[in-house]
Amino acid sequence: MSSLTTSPVPVSAAHTADLVVFGGTGDLSMRKLLPALYHSDRDGRLSPETRVIALSRGGLDDADFRGKVDAEVRDQVPADDPAGWRRFLGRLRHVSVDVGGLDPQGAGEQGAGEARRVGRRSGWETLAALLAGHEDRDRVFYLASPPRTFGAFCREAAGAGLVTPRSRVVLEKPLGHDLASAQRINDEVGAIFDERQIFRIDHYLGKETVQNLLVLRFANAFLEPIWNSLWIDHVQITAAETVGTPGRRGYYDHAGALRDMVQNHLLQLLCLTAMEPPARNDREAIRDEKVKVLQALRPITGGEVDRFTVRGQYVEGGGMPGYLDEPASTPPTEESCRVETFTAIRAEIRNWRWAGVPFYLRTGKRMPRRTSEIVVRFKDVPHSIYPGGTPNRLVLRLQPEEGIELHIMAKEPGAGEVTLKPVPLSLSFGETFTARVPEAYERLLTDVLSGNPTLFMRRDEVEAAWRWIDPILAAWEASPGLPEPYPAGTSGPAGARELLGRSGRSWHEEES
Ligand code: BG6
Repeated sequence: MSSLTTSPVPVSAAHTADLVVFGGTGDLSMRKLLPALYHSDRDGRLSPETRVIALSRGGLDDADFRGKVDAEVRDQVPADDPAGWRRFLGRLRHVSVDVGGLDPQGAGEQGAGEARRVGRRSGWETLAALLAGHEDRDRVFYLASPPRTFGAFCREAAGAGLVTPRSRVVLEKPLGHDLASAQRINDEVGAIFDERQIFRIDHYLGKETVQNLLVLRFANAFLEPIWNSLWIDHVQITAAETVGTPGRRGYYDHAGALRDMVQNHLLQLLCLTAMEPPARNDREAIRDEKVKVLQALRPITGGEVDRFTVRGQYVEGGGMPGYLDEPASTPPTEESCRVETFTAIRAEIRNWRWAGVPFYLRTGKRMPRRTSEIVVRFKDVPHSIYPGGTPNRLVLRLQPEEGIELHIMAKEPGAGEVTLKPVPLSLSFGETFTARVPEAYERLLTDVLSGNPTLFMRRDEVEAAWRWIDPILAAWEASPGLPEPYPAGTSGPAGARELLGRSGRSWHEEES
């Protein structure tokens, strides 16, 4: 399979970089970034001199940090490579830096006493000394921290003279909590870095099946003629998780499913499903087409919000606590009662290809199964000579067991009456390809280190997504109603079924 991405500058697979991770001892770093970097190292994609410099307020030295990573990350990587693991640990450094009194792990702000200011200054000086003499390397600042720290970090890094022409900055999602805050962050970061140096990450874009969706659409001839409203009845995009939000209430109360999953991951999947074929496989051509889809989304505003969106919150069920009873450092507030852990939306794209084809988006916590998938439901045959047929469906499964299934009608073997049965033509990536499927972060970090932004979101893309989300948020906030309760371990509130049922449709798993 050809690579979907091209490097803007010719770089060797293993050119030297200093990767500076702000929030480097946090959860994302420990669970995703460091294991992904280890795998890149193991596969020979990090040059021998590449360093990973974690920044936190932790007061750790290099040895403490390596010990922490050894204790917390080692069991997430294969145990068969002790020498490689030691080599990887040798790349790690830690510097204690405090940014504007903001905690990279998001635990809140702290006082700015003199001692703190001195410590902070010396932290930046330590970092500057570590980076000095390596200006010829790529320097990547990875901000694995809440968005309110992004602007301050960039200003302080620039103030300490650390931003070089070869620098890039990676911004973790969520980028803001509405359009205005996203614009403010983009302005602040944009005051220090050029747009081409800014990498806004959405880890769904690094998933194999997501990239395969483009290959499926644009490297095969048979789909394009039927990829439109003449042949497609509707599309369902689902990201269902079995996990709840234990320990995350501080974040989740202010996010909710719409900001946490729809504004970014689900809208990105919608864009890749709906976009026009780009003229070239390059960073701007693909992102240009995605933006056009976002701009063509029909706004859902005011009174329509109740008709086209559903929100739910899980309550106790299946032996699991409800959202409000999840372990958290603070008791639930009114905001906690109002936050949605489930949402389903009927979206429409106003263009020639998709007019009249609903795109149903759905995501939820504490669902019965972990599934992320895109289901393209074709129309009925124009005239049926057999009773009992069901329309074709193309299912792109992102997880679990990444793969593609085309559900077609077949005849059940047997004499007598012809009996139809929908059967899947299946491609399981795990069974078809023997190569290890890399984690999304591995792919994306490789692209950051080689300076390839194709799978990252451009400013106009993020802002167009917020522009569509904002009126839904506003209507929910203005509404006296609360999210519909659904028991943990079930597939969301009744309203989600009604959203499709009103037009005689049903969710994919109910049709199977
Ligand atoms: C993150 C969200 O972006 O994606 C989490 O903040 C969510 O709430 C996660 O659990 C889901 O990612 P994945 O790759 O497990 O589907």
